[in-house]
This record gives sequence, structure tokens and C-alpha cells, in this order.
Amino acid sequence: MDKAKKKGKVLLVLGAQWGDEGKGKIVDALSKFFDYSVRFQGGPNAGHTVIFNGKKVIFHTIPSGILQENCSAVVSNGVLIDVDVFRNEIESIKRLGLKFDGRLFISPLCHLILEFHKALDSAIDKRSNIGTTKMGIGPSVEFKVLRKGIRIKDIFSKSLRDKLKDILDYAKCIYSSLGESLSDDQNYFDYLRVEEKLLRFGEFIENFLAETDLLLKREIYNGKNVLLEGAQGILLDLDFGSYPFVTSTNTTPGGALVGTGLGPKDIDMVLGVSKSYTTRVGSGYFPSEIKDAKLSQMLREIGHEYGATTGRPRRVGWLDIPILKYSIRIGSIDCVAITKIDTLEKFGKAFLVEKYKVNDKIYEEFSPTIDVENIQTVLREFKISDIKKIFEDMTGVKNVIRSYGPDRENIEFDESFYSFLVS
Ligand code: IMP
Ligand code: MG
Repeated sequence: MDKAKKKGKVLLVLGAQWGDEGKGKIVDALSKFFDYSVRFQGGPNAGHTVIFNGKKVIFHTIPSGILQENCSAVVSNGVLIDVDVFRNEIESIKRLGLKFDGRLFISPLCHLILEFHKALDSAIDKRSNIGTTKMGIGPSVEFKVLRKGIRIKDIFSKSLRDKLKDILDYAKCIYSSLGESLSDDQNYFDYLRVEEKLLRFGEFIENFLAETDLLLKREIYNGKNVLLEGAQGILLDLDFGSYPFVTSTNTTPGGALVGTGLGPKDIDMVLGVSKSYTTRVGSGYFPSEIKDAKLSQMLREIGHEYGATTGRPRRVGWLDIPILKYSIRIGSIDCVAITKIDTLEKFGKAFLVEKYKVNDKIYEEFSPTIDVENIQTVLREFKISDIKKIFEDMTGVKNVIRSYGPDRENIEFDESFYSFLVS
């Protein structure tokens, strides 16, 4: 394909913190400007909450762009698909009265998550205390890297049964070596039962399958606009995040490339999404965390900070400028959306972390190489109504979208960004 002839635009939307930045809401607001909305990494560990016709909808695997009739949804090769979660999600979207015949495309190269991956996730997390979502993400990626993954296309292969037998025998060994006991009701290691389940799933999903890498490339060159919808956030990236307290996929732009088959020059703009404060679920360091239990509980309640996937209370903290500067660099972020400004307004207090002090050295930007256990934060109070200016002055990056609530209406776009969308 001739690069000079690329006509459509591609916007990559990434979480600039530890996930749950409100990407679902932003993507929902943007997708009316796009022909395709694409999920490219992660899996059902993600939970994008969107309010649609007054109803709360939680997306785990399917891009929330499906809610816009003009927009087709793509689940590309980098996404991990849980056989049960995926089916339920399709059914619940159907219940909203949405039709998506010919509007949902899934790559046959997607790796699957089966029950045994989830059992392993729980067994492993008992020892390592990462605080995973127990959705089987880590083990599914481990098996992928071991070349023992099961992809959707394998369901249609004659060697499915042999493959499953080999993989499940192996998985069973690991499971029992972790000290977990095997009982008869753990039939997720029973290859005949798993085979039957997969064959049924194959019938269900067959009509949605498409070579998504080819489809996207062709459509971009045909002038169609594509929105790439990141899951989790940059600080949860397997390589550049707060390792080992990270997810098992790449949430940085590299993840969008290997997860779709697009190239670096196909991406026209990267939009980072940040809350007006910070949250994280699961264990791991969190420099701007509010230590005062009463204060953090208040902010958690006002912001409804409970996990969309697991229901766990999220840890809450102030806006962390060194973290955002790092995300902007690692994510090649061009501009930023700030969400949940209404929450801070209701809370009535706003602080930000300006810089870190680590063993008497000052850091303006976070780095995973610093002594993360000994970060002291330098806090500064700010006026919530000044958030755009303060953010821009401190990071040097434009804040082009501001969101003031869960509804589609409570959102403000800068003219410059609007021009990009409609150009
Ligand atoms: P996993 O992705 O289930 O392996 O979990 C690894 C870490 O990433 C845990 O701290 C999870 O809480 C966190 N995590 C995974 N997905 C999300 C998400 O969508 N939002 C926020 N945190 C997430
Ligand atoms: Mg979420």
C-alpha cells in the first residue's frame, strides 16, 4: 500500500495513570467521529463503564464504540477473549436493543481465556499478591509466550483435541505443583469437556470473525477513521509500568501496534486520559495516595471509586504530575483529556504532587528506575477551576477535553481538537 495515499485518521486513546481514567466515557463521546473503534490489548480485566440511555453499561472486551450506530467495533489480535465473559457481553449489548450485524469484527488470532487460566491466576496470585483481577490474564499470556496458547482459529482446526490434551496436561501439572488440590469437580482440566465448550463457542463467534489487521489497514487507506481504544493505563504496562504490579499486556503505543498489525506511521494522534485525581486497584506503590483514611473514603464515595470488573474499592490519591510527565513521554501523548473534574468540585479540595524527593534528590518526572519505596511527594494545593492551565503549564501538553460527569453531555472539547476530529 502506498503510504502517501493514507486518507483516514487514526486516534490512539491511552490511560495515562493506573487504569479507570474514564476512557470509556471519552471513547463513547468520540466515536461518533469515527468509523471503527478498536480494542487491541488486555481482556476482560478491563471494565469500561458507559451510561447509555440512562442505563449503566459495562464493557469488558467489546469496544464501547459499538454504542454509536455509525461506528463498527473491532476486537483485534492483541485482545484476550474469555469464552464465557464474551458471550454474556454480547447478550447484554443485544438486550440494549442494539443491532450489530456486520458491525462487529473479531480477529481469529485472538488468544482465549479458559477456566483453567482463571484457576491458575487465583492460585498464583495467592502467593504473589499482585492483586490481579483473577480474570486469567497473566496465565493466558504466559501460555501464549510458551507457545501453548489457544487462539480462536484453533477451534476450527482438526488438531484441536490433541492440542487441548497437551495444554491441559501441562496446566494440570503447574496447578498441582502450586499446592492446589485437584478434585473431580475441577473439570476445567477435562479436555473433552473443554473441546465441547469451544466447539459451541466457535459456532457462536464464527460470523464475527475477520482478518482485522487487513481490514483496518485497507479501511484507513480508503479514508475511514479509526479510534484505537486502550485498556488499563500506562503505569500498568508490562514493561514500563510499576512492575511487578502491572498487567500482562502492553498498554503503551507499542501494544497498539503489535495488537492490531498497524505501523507507527499509521497513528496520527495519541490522546492520554487522566482523572483530575488518581486511583489504582490492586497492590503496588502509589506515590500520591491519600493516607488519611477518612479523606480517601470521602473521595472514593463521591467519585464512586469501586472497580467495574471486580467491585473492589479503588485506592485514591491526588493528581500526580511526575507520573503524568512520564506517561506523556512513554505514551508519546500529544494531548490529554481530564475526567471527573465534577468529583473534585464536590469534594471541595484539590492538591497535586508537583515533584518527588527520593533520598534527597528531586525528581520532576517519575521513573521506574528510582527507589520507589522511598518517594516523598511535594504537594501543592490548586484551584479546581484552574485545572486546564495548571496541567498545561506543568506538563507542556495541551488539555483538549474536560469531562464533568458520567453523562454524554457533560463534556467540553477545545476547538483545536474538534478541528482534528472533523477535518
Ligand atoms: P491483571 O490484569 O488481572 O493481571 O491484574 C494486574 C494488575 O492490573 C492488578 O493490580 C489489577 O488491579 C490491575 N488492572 C487490570 N486491569 C485493570 C483495569 O482495567 N483497571 C484498573 N486496574 C486494572
Ligand atoms: Mg476500568
